[in-house]
Amino acid sequence: MDPTERWSEDDTAVLAAAFTRAPSVHNSQPWTLRLSGRRAVVHERVDVVLPRHDPLGRDRLISCGAAVTNLRLAVRRLGWAAPWRQFPDPAAPGALAEVDAPAPAPITDTELAAYRAIARRHSHRGPFADRPVAPALVDALRVAAAPPRC
Ligand SMILES: Cc1cc2nc3c(=O)[nH]c(=O)nc-3n(C[C@H](O)[C@H](O)[C@H](O)COP(=O)(O)O)c2cc1C
Repeated sequence: MDPTERWSEDDTAVLAAAFTRAPSVHNSQPWTLRLSGRRAVVHERVDVVLPRHDPLGRDRLISCGAAVTNLRLAVRRLGWAAPWRQFPDPAAPGALAEVDAPAPAPITDTELAAYRAIARRHSHRGPFADRPVAPALVDALRVAAAPPRC
């Protein structure tokens, strides 16, 4: 295989850092990441079970979705297009997503802002004030929460 067509060690560090910073239900991190060539495959760890909180595995799947989003942003940060496929292998039910990096493509400002937010994001653990959120702030949050187009 052409060595330029595979993730370098630095690339791997960037991808893994972004991927593992995703939020996850009960901080269970119910995912694995496999890198080969210039492809990244995400598997759901179905052995991570939370029978009381998450009997159907919905939150587990949402957690994996957050990790895939971070992963794709990291691929974009490395300067590649990041096309992806959901459930790429019907014969492997745990395989959730396959992300490729087929060609250079500069990151957009919106993607860069979302990528930079990965390191800052954390769950809010403090008390919430007993007052309504200002409508303008709600609107701003809606815009900020729209999925990045990458
Ligand atoms: C699908 C999902 C469900 C979650 N549910 C809860 C919850 O019910 N209560 C809670 O305090 N945190 C919840 N969290 C936040 C996780 O506990 C948190 O992401 C994890 O502990 C890692 O901390 P961090 O978000 O600060 O990185 C949830 C996160 C995800 C992705």
